[in-house]
Amino acid sequence: MPLSKKRTLTQYLIEQRRRFPQASGELNALILDVSIACKAIARQVALGALAEAPEAGTVNVQGEEQKPLDIISNEMLIRQTEWSGHIAGMASEEMDDPYQVPAEYARGKYLLVFDPLDGSSNLDVNVSVGSIFSILRAPQDVIDSGRDVVAADFFQTGSTQVAAGYALYGPTTMLVLTVGNGVVGFTLDPNIGEFKLTHPDIRVPADTKEFAINSSNSRFWEPPVKRYVDECLAGQTGPRGKDFNMRWIASMVAEAHRILMRGGVFMYPRDTKDPAKPGRLRLLYEANPIGYVMEQAGGRASTGRQPVLGVTPTSLHQRIGLVFGSRNEVERIERYHHEPASQEKSAPLFAARSLFRD
Ligand code: AHG
Ligand code: MN
Ligand code: MN
Repeated sequence: MPLSKKRTLTQYLIEQRRRFPQASGELNALILDVSIACKAIARQVALGALAEAPEAGTVNVQGEEQKPLDIISNEMLIRQTEWSGHIAGMASEEMDDPYQVPAEYARGKYLLVFDPLDGSSNLDVNVSVGSIFSILRAPQDVIDSGRDVVAADFFQTGSTQVAAGYALYGPTTMLVLTVGNGVVGFTLDPNIGEFKLTHPDIRVPADTKEFAINSSNSRFWEPPVKRYVDECLAGQTGPRGKDFNMRWIASMVAEAHRILMRGGVFMYPRDTKDPAKPGRLRLLYEANPIGYVMEQAGGRASTGRQPVLGVTPTSLHQRIGLVFGSRNEVERIERYHHEPASQEKSAPLFAARSLFRD
């Protein structure tokens, strides 16, 4: 099979670096290491039940304790990046506290934050999952001193991300990336084990007729979300004047990818289900990286009330309401949150713009 002319991830990164003649190449090296970890995770995920799911706490032939895929993926991302001298510290969904680069390795200037496996409840049913990552610059005193990182070092708004993206383990494995210059997508070429640039300029259409929300939570939704969904459901004869389609994969990373490819709006809004949890998804390693990708692709990402990339984190595993996708829909949902009238409508199914109006 001849080599295709499509550029590799390495080529793309080298071309991007040329925009910054003084750049050291460390960011590129880090992204490439993340991509190698994602290839390793892709192989592990693809084995599925062939990987002979162990009983909890079983020890394998190498004498290692066998672990679920979330933990294996977490370790793959750590092992593939910690040695390089580019990392100041890491944070992950799978670790309560920040991860310190071991003493035998040099420390660098970047913070790596990740959800090693998003949508992992879908693994047992062979539905797409992915890994989400965000790269931040470490605070200057961390870089200068090489001290251990603390949670507060990660409390930077999403707008300061240096790079972000995800790998999607679907029918093909893809890597979708932004280094702050638009969004590009690579497909893993299994013949040569390289990510090839297949989607050179991903743009989210501004308008859509497709939405994604877990409607089993509808009784907990706030009025602006109820209003928005009711109007979508009302279709052609409702206030929106068009029929909508609905999708729910329950892998946010896969929903994000669908929306990047053909538009749509995704909502996991703040709701009243559990007052201790202001939303389901996590700010640092789910909302921020996906939000950055969306904004870089011309879409929008919001808490419902404000751009998600403007939120200053206050804890490592903080949850947040998240709405993202086609710009005009996200702006509409924000508008509904800001209109006082809509917030008073506690039963929008029977209100003026309702599904059951005369
Ligand atoms: P994770 O597997 O990292 O815990 O994340 C799962 C998240 C997200 O991917 C998805 O959108 C959501 O949980 C699914 O929520 P429901 O179970 O409410 O559908
Ligand atoms: Mn997740
Ligand atoms: Mn996860």
